[in-house]
Amino acid sequence: MSLLDVNRVSFSYVKGKPVLKNVTFSVEEGETVGIIGANGAGKSTLLKLLVGLLFPDPMAGTAMEDGWISVDHQQVTPKSLSRIRQQIGYVFQDSDIQLFMPTVAEDVGFAPKNYGFSKQEVAQRVTRALQMTGTYELRDRSCLELSGGQKKLVSLATVLSMSPPLLIFDEPTSALDPKNRRLVMNVFRSLPETRMIVSHDLDLVLDLCNRVILLCDGKIVRDGNARDILSDENLLEENGLELPLRLQK
Ligand SMILES: Nc1ncnc2c1ncn2[C@@H]1O[C@H](COP(=O)(O)OP(=O)(O)OP(=O)(O)O)[C@@H](O)[C@H]1O
Ligand SMILES: [Mg+2]
Repeated sequence: MSLLDVNRVSFSYVKGKPVLKNVTFSVEEGETVGIIGANGAGKSTLLKLLVGLLFPDPMAGTAMEDGWISVDHQQVTPKSLSRIRQQIGYVFQDSDIQLFMPTVAEDVGFAPKNYGFSKQEVAQRVTRALQMTGTYELRDRSCLELSGGQKKLVSLATVLSMSPPLLIFDEPTSALDPKNRRLVMNVFRSLPETRMIVSHDLDLVLDLCNRVILLCDGKIVRDGNARDILSDENLLEENGLELPLRLQK
């Protein structure tokens, strides 16, 4: 088994209209995987299944076995969620869902405090995560008052403060100005953890990921070497995407 196994997973918000169809892949420790696909392809839905915010469709009444997801040998079920969420850090596409405490520092310290680290350890983790994301100066501000880009950076900090073995990011650089986009890319590069990144910024995916999974209409159409997939103009166009800017003539 791998760090992450996704096995024949289908998912429907509305019965009979699956938005993920029989998705299977594994991620090994240390990999950096980009998940790409046009709007509505199913990328965010897939990430939500990985962290147990949604669960695979049961296959009762069909000839197929139920699909399943496991993280570090533990199947993702309602009962295993507390443990699963120690293994995965998830940065939502929408930062407003991520941030809920009165101040930035409380938000970034929420998970370490909850998982029982000492006061001193929580403080150290918060300071480190804020410094990594360039948000230390914002520590006493209310999350409600932050700009979209500042919220994104603080959301990253809330995950970095736990440093779980698997990090997943949904559009981590959307809303960021060029300088902060570069900052986040440098942070990603410096992380030793296994990373999965959903992004429409294919230049970023090309820079940061060794492997790419291309989704179209809820199905995996290609899973392989990032450079091979991201330089295949026909494949990208057939699936509603364009070459990374860096590879365009
Ligand atoms: N809560 C929901 N209820 C019903 N349908 C939903 C819900 N969330 C998403 N969908 C539908 O599921 C499909 C996949 O959505 P998803 O958000 O996973 O796409 P995505 O690949 O992340 O797209 P984007 O690039 O725009 O973020 C879309 O057709 C979307 O309309
Ligand atoms: Mg999405």
